[in-house]
Amino acid sequence: MRSVLLVAAAAAAKQPPLWPLPQNYSCSTQKLTVIPSPAFFRVDAGNDVLAAAAKRYIPLAFPHGWGAPGVGLPALSVVVDDGVGATERAARRPRRADDAGALYPALGDDESYKLRITATSATLKARTVWGALRGLETFSQLVAYNFDTATYQVVACTIQDAPRYPHRGLMVDSGRHFLPVATLLHVVDALPFAKLNVLHWHLTDTQSFPVETPSRPSLWRGSFSKRERYSVEDVKRVVERARLRGVRVVPEFDTPGHAESWCSGYPGVCPSPTCKTPLDVSKAETFAVLDDVLGDAAKLFPDAFVHLGGDEVDTSCWASTPSIQQWLRAVLRARNWTTADAYSYFVSTAAKIARSHQKRPIQWAEVFDEFGATLDKSTIVHVWKLSTNITEVVENGYDCLVNVGYVADSWYLDNLDVTWAQAYASDPRATVPPHLQTKVLGGHGEMWGETVDGSDFDATVWPRLAAIGERLWSSVDDVDAAWPRLEAFRCLLLERGVGAAPLNNSMARAAPVGPGACTQRRRRI
Ligand SMILES: *[C@@H]1O[C@H](CO)[C@@H](O)[C@H](O)[C@H]1NC(C)=O
Ligand SMILES: *[C@@H]1O[C@H](CO)[C@@H](O)[C@H](O)[C@H]1NC(C)=O
Ligand SMILES: *[C@@H]1O[C@H](CO)[C@@H](O)[C@H](O)[C@H]1NC(C)=O
Ligand SMILES: *[C@@H]1O[C@H](CO)[C@@H](O)[C@H](O)[C@H]1NC(C)=O
Repeated sequence: MRSVLLVAAAAAAKQPPLWPLPQNYSCSTQKLTVIPSPAFFRVDAGNDVLAAAAKRYIPLAFPHGWGAPGVGLPALSVVVDDGVGATERAARRPRRADDAGALYPALGDDESYKLRITATSATLKARTVWGALRGLETFSQLVAYNFDTATYQVVACTIQDAPRYPHRGLMVDSGRHFLPVATLLHVVDALPFAKLNVLHWHLTDTQSFPVETPSRPSLWRGSFSKRERYSVEDVKRVVERARLRGVRVVPEFDTPGHAESWCSGYPGVCPSPTCKTPLDVSKAETFAVLDDVLGDAAKLFPDAFVHLGGDEVDTSCWASTPSIQQWLRAVLRARNWTTADAYSYFVSTAAKIARSHQKRPIQWAEVFDEFGATLDKSTIVHVWKLSTNITEVVENGYDCLVNVGYVADSWYLDNLDVTWAQAYASDPRATVPPHLQTKVLGGHGEMWGETVDGSDFDATVWPRLAAIGERLWSSVDDVDAAWPRLEAFRCLLLERGVGAAPLNNSMARAAPVGPGACTQRRRRI
């Protein structure tokens, strides 16, 4: 036992102070001085994503300002080369660019990078701008300020890095509590610190419908209050903030369950005033409203995915509402359907509508649990229950996202008793045969919003989300080796204004215990 601990400690000692840990690294102990300046990050200034990042990373890498320049490394050269010749590139249409020519991140983008820091030069190479962003984050974490000499230092390193999973996210729920735009922008700012690249925005739920949908302007009557709403411009700001950070924004409109809030604006889509969901499967109006909502969403959210929910559907309102009963009896007779087929009809129609807007549907795993291989193969199955057999999902040809693992609901951040180490112990692919593992695209920390708003969001999410981030990016899983790095990363989050809770607390967002260092490892200088 003793020797095992020593080995773990030695491995931990050799790991560079980075979160998540890069795939391949070789770092010396040699400390090099870097000379900060506003032009430290040399990028192609003609690229708006890179130009913004070069500016953003100055205070992140050099947070304590600087005085007169000394002697040392004066720059990090950032080179993006996709390996395609200029002629061929000119002949290609830009990938996933919007009408204004802006480039958006997408599933499967190459996020690899190579970072080389020597005594004489520092270079970052990537095949896409998104890879360059990940490398800039790594560089910023390598820089340390020496308060005694008032200099910034890095260690000489060669790093070759790429993510293990392409889809690494956080779900936020603005249906259970409104999350102000300022909170969302702050959330988006922090995701790339842990190399996360997806914000899954569960916009609406039973309790509220906060977002403007121009073609169905009454829907946001379902908001908690008139001030707790997102205008189209608010949504655009969040999407743009995310784009510049290489973060995709995937909206969710959960139907037919979790949708009572739709009744405030359009009572016609609900079975009755006393029995409101699931939304009325018998009416064309229901699908017309959904079509308009998804059409509006397609204009606002450039990402290729849209989440349609589909979870926790209790069909008793359909059975007890006379008009729906009548419809059910008629179609059930005509098409030999069961009541479950009506649920299937709803979710497959929703998916069809999403595809008609050129979006790929994501649906919660109940939809697979109920209907299995009958779903359209483009559907992404979002697994959240231990009872769903992930191998069966991928064997049937579906891509999936996974939020369960070592303990039930371990990536459900609303479960306050789940510790960072339990979240860290889960690997979405663990139970899937090797040849099917790439069908597991990744997963999310799920921040269901019942007890979270702008006041406690950071401390509930962080640092547990960082643990998830490392499992999705890196190939390491040793909790003991991760602990000191994660403690250091928590200090970094605090320094960057993200209110991450202490690692060692039993209920996620507990306050620090008494006076002490951010690492909880009290040490005298
Ligand atoms: C890391 O190194 C291994 C072994 O040389 C190699 O197979 C792998 O592709 C490297 N990963 C990256 C991201 O460069
Ligand atoms: C109706 O469905 C049942 C069960 O799914 C099946 O046994 C029966 O043969 C079907 N009837 C017709 C006319 O298709
Ligand atoms: C999951 O499905 C696979 C493939 O059908 C099967 O081999 C495996 O036994 C199932 N696992 C569980 C726990 O049921
Ligand atoms: C974690 O907290 C508990 C209770 O406050 C304490 O007993 C324990 O020593 C702490 N563990 C570490 C590693 O700091």
